[in-house]
Amino acid sequence: MKIGIGNDHVAVEYKEEISKYIEEKYGYEIVNFGTDSTERFNYPESGKAVADAVAGGTVDKGIVICGTGVGIGISANKVKGIRCVICSEPYSARLSRQHNNTNMIAFGSRVVGLELAKMIVDEWLTAEYEGGHHQVRVDMISEMEK
Ligand code: RB5
Repeated sequence: MKIGIGNDHVAVEYKEEISKYIEEKYGYEIVNFGTDSTERFNYPESGKAVADAVAGGTVDKGIVICGTGVGIGISANKVKGIRCVICSEPYSARLSRQHNNTNMIAFGSRVVGLELAKMIVDEWLTAEYEGGHHQVRVDMISEMEK
């Protein structure tokens, strides 16, 4: 499993902590598309880079982090084929996989503490898409991209 990760300048250390957590707990490969500098960095750049990698299949899933998660999550959702949940708690993270088949997640380093972020990541990485009647709705979203 390959996870693309992206961030802006307000989430550099946070990105490193989350990456380390995933590598150590799950043994997944992390591909870094974010900035490693605290110099001002425009979040759409790494939001798009991770989304392109997910949509193109070079990574399996994507995690993007900015101050709120909002800007980088909106950016990711502009890429065709991306369903990125912007969330701050584990319940929506889990349900977004089970019902919406999300392939990316966004959260904010200024909103979500690191321990809560790890719980969010755990729920999101371990939940499985349920398909069935949910697929009709996911297909309707895909139709909107045509
Ligand atoms: C950067 O100051 C901040 O605007 C950004 O990290 C993010 O919160 C945008 O949505």
